Parts: sequence; structure tokens; C-alpha cells
Amino acid sequence: MPIFKAKNYLDVYRVRAASDDLHQMSGRHDKRITAFCNQQMEREMAPSKDDVVVDIGCGDGSFLVQIHKNIATGFGIVPTEEEKARLEVAYSIDNLSFLRGLTTKLPLADETASKVICNGVLVLLDTEDELVASMREIYRVSKKHAMIWIGELPHVDEFAYHNKKYGDSLIKWIMSELRQSGVVAAAHATKKVLTALFSKETLIINPKTHLYILPDKFVQICENIGFEVLQSWKSITIDKTGRECEIPTRYNYLLRKTLEN
Ligand SMILES: C[S@@+](CC[C@H](N)C(=O)[O-])C[C@H]1O[C@@H](n2cnc3c(N)ncnc32)[C@H](O)[C@@H]1O
Repeated sequence: MPIFKAKNYLDVYRVRAASDDLHQMSGRHDKRITAFCNQQMEREMAPSKDDVVVDIGCGDGSFLVQIHKNIATGFGIVPTEEEKARLEVAYSIDNLSFLRGLTTKLPLADETASKVICNGVLVLLDTEDELVASMREIYRVSKKHAMIWIGELPHVDEFAYHNKKYGDSLIKWIMSELRQSGVVAAAHATKKVLTALFSKETLIINPKTHLYILPDKFVQICENIGFEVLQSWKSITIDKTGRECEIPTRYNYLLRKTLEN
């Protein structure tokens, strides 16, 4: 009966790495959304042959794999040995390496990266102090004038925004899906529980808190560290029909390392 109640997000992704489906490591249920996200990042970051790209919290590694032919070197950072091992088995590409490390302690020398990606990761930190420490680490490992993509950083508490009050109860979760999203969503949730009960695929009960920060405050933190904030905008995803739509609770930020601090 593999139902796992995770104490923290590191455990969530450690367990996801054991899934038969590599895409579970991205944290999304729909591969099309990850592909859409990767397209946006490639368009904005415009990787080129001289670039050293660091993807912090690289999930299923698909962004680096997508761009690897157009860059010099890519490093994918993941927080657990289990994720690193899974990515190393999945991909063997000469100019890509997967390293174990945390946003707050990156396993890279100073001024390594010309492009840094950190998408859907800072949301998983526990405190604002960790967020500041992570941005300082990104600054340290970035070359001067490096471009940095910080994606999908919430500005509100998403559990409150989406009225998710079911705690760790699976029954309450299914009922909440029924009330908020309808019969199909509730059937999908029920199927997940039954699959976990009768197969090897683990159902993970996620922690019910996450980090969020108002855009003005995040911009101030970045500027204090020595980044120029080039752009910030509401994160964009696709809906079930493939149509683009805003994520109402999250922002993306495009930064450049400019100043000495
Ligand atoms: C929601 S997934 C996003 C994956 C990928 N960036 C994407 O957008 O598809 C979160 C990723 O962050 C990683 N992660 C979680 N906490 C982390 C931390 N403290 N330091 C580094 N990576 C972390 C997870 O292992 C996972 O790879």
C-alpha cells in the first residue's frame, strides 16, 4: 500500500525519482505543460554555443536535454542522490552533468554559469531566509552579465487561494476535487488512490505549506544582492485544451547579474 505522507519537499522528489515515469520528477501531471514551459524558457533565455547553463532543481532534466545541442555545457542540480542517479541512468549526454545540491548550497565554483534556470523550485523552500540565501548562491555561481530565469514563484498562499482545506485526508481530498472541479477530477483522484493501493506506484501526500512572496519584495531582495530585474510577469501555462492561460498565483522573473556586491 504505497501511500507516502511526505514531511518535506525533498522527500517528495526523492520518492518521485523511483517512479517508472521519469516525468514524475517534474512535479507536474501533464507532460504537455512541461514541454510548454521548456519552450518558453528556451525562447526567453536564447541558449547559444558558448553558454554554460545551470538548471537548479532540474526535475526530469527535459529542459537541458532539449537545449543541449545548442550550448557548451549544462549542469542539472537536484537535491537528492536518488534523483541524480535516476537522471544519470536516463541520459548519457557528453555535455550534460547532473549534480547533487541545494539552492542554498550549489555544488559549483564561483562565476560558472552564463545562464541560470530555477523554475518551480523556490516555491518549495521553507523560509524567506532560505530564499535570500538561494539568490545569493545564484549570484555567486553566475558570471558577470549572466541571465537568470526565476520561474513560477507564488505571490500568494496557493492552498488558501484554491481553498484546499483537506489536510492529509484522502477522502476529504476526493470530496474537495468533486466540489471544486467536478466528477471527472474526483474520479481521477479516486483512481490515483486505488492505483496506489493495488500497484507499485506511490501516492505522495504533499506538505501543505509553501513559500510565497510579493513581487515588490522579491525584486528588492534581488536588487540588494546585485541583480538587475529585467522583467517580471504572471506565469503562463496551458489548459486542458492546450490554450495558453495565466497562472493567477505565480510570477516569472528575468534577471541579469550586473553589479559587484
Ligand atoms: C516542481 S519541480 C520543477 C522541475 C523543473 N524545474 C521544471 O520546471 O520542470 C521542483 C524541482 O526542485 C527540486 N528541489 C526541491 N527542493 C530543492 C532544493 N531545496 N534545492 C534544489 N532543488 C530542489 C526538486 O527535486 C525538483 O527537481
